[in-house]
Amino acid sequence: MEKCALVTGSSSGLGLDISKFLLDCGYIVFGGSRSGTDLEHENFYDVELDITSEDSVEEFIETIREFTPHLHLIINNAGICEMGPISDVTLEQFEVHLATNTVGPFLLFRHIESFLIKNETHIISILSTAAHYGYPNVSAYNASKFGQLGLLESLKKEWKDYKIRFTNLFPGAIDTPLWDKMGSKFSRDKMLKTTEFMSVFGFIVTAPDTIQFPELTFLHKEGFLE
Ligand SMILES: NC(=O)c1ccc[n+]([C@@H]2O[C@H](COP(=O)([O-])OP(=O)(O)OC[C@H]3O[C@@H](n4cnc5c(N)ncnc54)[C@H](OP(=O)(O)O)[C@@H]3O)[C@@H](O)[C@H]2O)c1
Repeated sequence: MEKCALVTGSSSGLGLDISKFLLDCGYIVFGGSRSGTDLEHENFYDVELDITSEDSVEEFIETIREFTPHLHLIINNAGICEMGPISDVTLEQFEVHLATNTVGPFLLFRHIESFLIKNETHIISILSTAAHYGYPNVSAYNASKFGQLGLLESLKKEWKDYKIRFTNLFPGAIDTPLWDKMGSKFSRDKMLKTTEFMSVFGFIVTAPDTIQFPELTFLHKEGFLE
């Protein structure tokens, strides 16, 4: 059976690098995003996905089903982050964070169960240190990532009879296009490079499948951005 992977948020940053890495490893990759990517590879399927919309998630899943009934790897990665003091955060901004970072993974997992392969599927979620620790001026992001963690912790137990692996990654700041949109004061020199993130990700994906990494926090040696 050919190995198939799903990557949400494949148009940019970590999702794009993860997709390229998995293609190099021989996976067939189904990438989902709103804007798509120029990435061209015979095993890459660039599929439109707005993870905040259940109709879009269902269409995404049905497109994948035309090619495969199984997924060996599910990379739950799509996410947004905006910064600002809570008095400046609008209700709409807060709700968009929840819709993307919490409700989005809920919609994905709600429709993906039939693709799980007993004893084999590996679900890797790119959470953030912000799913464990509170940071100032990212209330919406913090709340949405804590919420996503709660969803995953429940799902791990609900799906325990599948004997699949869940890996929750909690990286600190990584120098990706996410930061271009935020206009933050933080130095990119104190963020992980995407190559550093990928060295950890690659280690996890290529490790023997008898090993599980339930949780992994990793960040630049300079520490948390605060
Ligand atoms: N960079 C960091 O410092 C850092 C640290 C810890 C964790 N993370 C997490 O890592 C993940 C990837 O972030 P990144 O740094 O690679 O950011 P990025 O470069 O901005 O990429 C975000 C990806 O998410 C997708 N996305 C956003 N909203 C979406 C929606 N409604 N539907 C479908 N896809 C959507 C984007 O695609 P479209 O816009 O094309 O839809 C894009 O492909 C996020 O979950 C983020 O929270 C990042």
